[in-house]
Amino acid sequence: MRNEYLPYPATVESIQSESFDTKTFKVVFEDKALAKSFNYKPGQFVQVSLLGIGEAPISITSCPHNKGFLELTIRAAGKLTRAIHQLKQGDKIYIRGPYGNSFPVEEVKGRDLYFIAGGIGLPPLRSVIKSVFNKREEFGKIKILYGAKTPDELCFKKELKTWSKITDAEVLLTVDEPDGGWQGNVGVVTTLWDKTDMATSAGIAYVCGPPIMIKFVIIKLLESGFKDENIYLTLERYMKCGIGKCGHCNIGEKFVCIDGPVFTYSQLKKFPDKEKAIA
Ligand SMILES: Cc1cc2nc3c(=O)[nH]c(=O)nc-3n(C[C@H](O)[C@H](O)[C@H](O)COP(=O)(O)OP(=O)(O)OC[C@H]3O[C@@H](n4cnc5c(N)ncnc54)[C@H](O)[C@@H]3O)c2cc1C
Ligand code: FES
Repeated sequence: MRNEYLPYPATVESIQSESFDTKTFKVVFEDKALAKSFNYKPGQFVQVSLLGIGEAPISITSCPHNKGFLELTIRAAGKLTRAIHQLKQGDKIYIRGPYGNSFPVEEVKGRDLYFIAGGIGLPPLRSVIKSVFNKREEFGKIKILYGAKTPDELCFKKELKTWSKITDAEVLLTVDEPDGGWQGNVGVVTTLWDKTDMATSAGIAYVCGPPIMIKFVIIKLLESGFKDENIYLTLERYMKCGIGKCGHCNIGEKFVCIDGPVFTYSQLKKFPDKEKAIA
């Protein structure tokens, strides 16, 4: 049996700069058969490593329908991610996975979908957004509420424009600190509630961002009529193995790497320390 910790070699095919500290890497497995057969679901992550430097969990931001490559949007946060930012086209990177559970897509056909993201929280949601737009007619209306500290820090700027033109889809952006050219909303993501109708009793919410944002977004979602079980969020924990063996990522009895990283608010409410779970 193959060693579960052994990563697969892949090659960086292209690099797209998103902001001053974030880049999207398109990577292709060296094993052509694996590249074709590698299946994953929106919301899952992979363990990414560079030999002799380290390994970290990174969400898959590409859409599962696009076979043959993975896209990973990575912020230079520490030792490994800063080293990844030094990679050039054609360099080697190592990947194992996919791991974790996923966001619902098939299960929510016909429903109105609300994506709420902050900063580097959009990359994990992009995989779901692209999956949904791939079968646009099978879902209700779609709203994407996205905020970042500055206009530069908004990821996928071109795609946000494209998404805003799709039928019955609305993209609302906000920044905390505008620059000279910014003409959009200024304020935290929850200020976008004043710009659109968020009232719903059957809508599905997908939330990803910093813990403080998640906390206030949940309050607004509940005020707008969303049900606990229809609010999906991703949790981040320091991980080592990614496969439920080392115990690094636990919250109470749950392991974020295998029971998550996607949880509903009804699940979160049952955690022994709900506040700590999103801190
Ligand atoms: C499921 C999941 C998905 C993720 N997806 C993405 C993604 O798509 N893109 C992305 O950019 N990141 C993502 N992350 C976050 C990423 O894995 C971490 O930022 C990772 O620590 C980066 O590794 P590093 O070696 O570069 O940085 P590290 O050396 O780990 O440092 C990163 C930061 O965390 C601090 N830190 C390190 N260890 C600890 C500790 N034990 N306790 C508290 N603080 C500590 C450091 O001081 C530094 O500020 C994800 C995390 C999870 C759990
Ligand atoms: S990372 Fe090892 S148990 Fe979750």
